[in-house]
Amino acid sequence: MPQPLLADWTPEDFMTVEEGVFVAKHRLAETGLFTDDVLAEVIDSHPPEHLGINTMGTDPNVFDWMEGERNGLSGQEIIQLVRRGQIWINCRKMLDHHPKHAQALHQVYDEIESGKPGFQAQDRTANLLISSPNAWVPYHVDMPMNMLWHIRGTKRVWVYPHFDNRFASVETLGKVCAGEWSEDVPYDSSFDKYALVFDAQPGQLITWPQLTPHRVCNLEGLNVSVSTEHKNARARRRINVHTANHLMRHRFGKECREIGVDGPVAYAKEALARAFRLADKFVGKEKEQFVYPMRFVLDREAPNGYRLKEEKEENYVAPHQEFETAGV
Ligand SMILES: [Fe+2]
Repeated sequence: MPQPLLADWTPEDFMTVEEGVFVAKHRLAETGLFTDDVLAEVIDSHPPEHLGINTMGTDPNVFDWMEGERNGLSGQEIIQLVRRGQIWINCRKMLDHHPKHAQALHQVYDEIESGKPGFQAQDRTANLLISSPNAWVPYHVDMPMNMLWHIRGTKRVWVYPHFDNRFASVETLGKVCAGEWSEDVPYDSSFDKYALVFDAQPGQLITWPQLTPHRVCNLEGLNVSVSTEHKNARARRRINVHTANHLMRHRFGKECREIGVDGPVAYAKEALARAFRLADKFVGKEKEQFVYPMRFVLDREAPNGYRLKEEKEENYVAPHQEFETAGV
């Protein structure tokens, strides 16, 4: 029987999962699965199509998220570049490709399911995030339920009020859930006054309700975290309610701002969203995921660990801005 990884949780911690914002301890680091050597092995054995290599500019108020190429570097070399550069590595779909990590991550979910009656974490996925001491992630929402298991380094996490139209409007969440926009949503620094701010230490989990806007700035050290996502019937219904609100607005011109996920109206919206998704699939109109262009390559000699492939475009726009100007 493996040692519990959530041994320090109180009954209230378990009950708060999905319902509120909270911080709790975890023991994932004690598995030995997040040392430099193991991280390098993970990078080297990870399917290239699921290895995200990103950078993000230096001003957290300016959206400049970029995707880059590995340029033949080994996992060990990439770890060294991340330690001194400004790079964000995302090993996606960890549960499918790294059995030992999958075992530990399923264990934490299983412990939550045991500690919270009725809770189900279905469609589980996990991303291993390895990032530079001053890297940051822009303001965004995640469509599934999201939990940030912090393991090494320190990072500041801003968590904005959930289910609050001022920070992610009904229109915005409708576009995200319907696949019109990426999960990067419009941000204004005036929002910060209303955020809960946490300096995440190794061994801390931070989590929040579904579709809660948040952003992250690393503070010091090589940062290692795992971001897990899951869904269940209620989480899927929340996505479908927002999708249906968007459909009602754009296909029928009917303003629909109710975001509740319980009761007959929510179930009717879920049926509507599913019917439209099926119809779109039938006629080949499925939305394509936004893909960031490959704009840089990793480079051992470059000060921040990467160089741009070509001159930076002056008017590069964030996906939400791009879709907005396209009038979608
Ligand atoms: Fe996130």
